[in-house]
Amino acid sequence: MAGEPTVGLLGGSGAVGRGVLRALAGTVRLRVGGRDRKRAERALAEEADGHGEIHVVDPQDGDALARFCDGCDAVVNCAGPSCRLLDAVALAALTAGAHYVDPGGDDPLHRRIVHHDWRGRSAVVSAGMLPGLSGLLPLDLVGEFDSIDRVTGYAGGIERFSPAGAEDFLASLSNGFGWGGMCVRAGDLRPSPAPHPDPVRLPLSRTPAEARPYVSSEFLRLCRRLAVDGDWYNVFPGRHTVDFLRRFQAGQAGGGPPETVDAGVDAAAVAGLIGASALDVAGRSPEQLLVIEATGLRSGRPAVRSIAVRAGSGAALTGGVAACAVLAVLEGAIPDGVHHAADILPVRTVLSRIGMWWPDCRILRSDAAAVAVDEGAL
Ligand SMILES: NC(=O)c1ccc[n+]([C@@H]2O[C@H](COP(=O)([O-])OP(=O)(O)OC[C@H]3O[C@@H](n4cnc5c(N)ncnc54)[C@H](OP(=O)(O)O)[C@@H]3O)[C@@H](O)[C@H]2O)c1
Repeated sequence: MAGEPTVGLLGGSGAVGRGVLRALAGTVRLRVGGRDRKRAERALAEEADGHGEIHVVDPQDGDALARFCDGCDAVVNCAGPSCRLLDAVALAALTAGAHYVDPGGDDPLHRRIVHHDWRGRSAVVSAGMLPGLSGLLPLDLVGEFDSIDRVTGYAGGIERFSPAGAEDFLASLSNGFGWGGMCVRAGDLRPSPAPHPDPVRLPLSRTPAEARPYVSSEFLRLCRRLAVDGDWYNVFPGRHTVDFLRRFQAGQAGGGPPETVDAGVDAAAVAGLIGASALDVAGRSPEQLLVIEATGLRSGRPAVRSIAVRAGSGAALTGGVAACAVLAVLEGAIPDGVHHAADILPVRTVLSRIGMWWPDCRILRSDAAAVAVDEGAL
């Protein structure tokens, strides 16, 4: 093993952490950190044949965190929820001289760490399915056009939320870095003119879904960078999850959205979302979808292209994107400083690595428009 880089993986026993473990097994020296040794040992045994070391560490204990990061070439933070851990792990990695990768964090984390001195090191945040692959996929289509004028995206699926994933999702509804009911026109946010009134059926999907317009800060950045108009829809194939979110946003479930970015999400709301997602997935196969459609000119003529990615698990897909970011920082492919994954990872390399790690992941490129309205009810 001498000469292999050491990767510290906090939260390796979680849903995303297990995906990172499986993707990186055999290519780096793994150090798995968690508060619960038994859970971490089980994850290491099941995902990486037990090859690696275990550290018992609570990410809220600064000294333990510093010991964990010491000697790592890169640290991946899959402990969550990131809305509560904030920048603690990133700054410990920086102090230890390690690169940093986070599947979550998004703008609140980026804003906290971007002004530190990252000379000689890089950090990649938002390195997951959404955000992450959601912002990279449109770039896969760019090379197929002379010019693009519009990008439309759809994301969502049916899968049980993890505890950290549920809390971060609910926090993101009120953290000021996403806008429900909006679209992007000429670089600015505008009320979405055409919300989907009916269920839509996405390519590769087994289930019709309710589509709600939503612009994330990642999508707004992308539209500005490409100078295109943009529409994004979060899709919800599960009635229980849709109903829960409606009640949560109306303040009728778990106290509703927190009033400030730093206020925590009510535990009852987190449990409510996990329960609703579990009801939706009962008796059905979990799936997560990302679908992008682009329109523009191709060989001088109006054209449309789309790409769809379906995975059996959003957590595994997220772990795969985070693992791609780890390999990229270790290969020296990422400039010093703090980056969002969608701004810096090479999309074709990410897709080919994900296809290799998760053979059940389907990728479909097409000349057809992405979405048909489904006649059946949800
Ligand atoms: N970008 C994306 O598309 C995307 C998608 C899914 C998730 N994510 C992000 O990825 C991260 C991990 O999500 P996940 O689905 O793997 O979560 P999870 O299954 O709930 O796992 C969380 C992990 O964090 C550890 N942990 C440490 N401190 C904790 C605390 N105070 N409370 C709860 N757990 C704690 C847990 O292990 P111990 O209890 O042993 O310490 C566990 O291994 C989150 O930040 C989430 O937002 C991003």
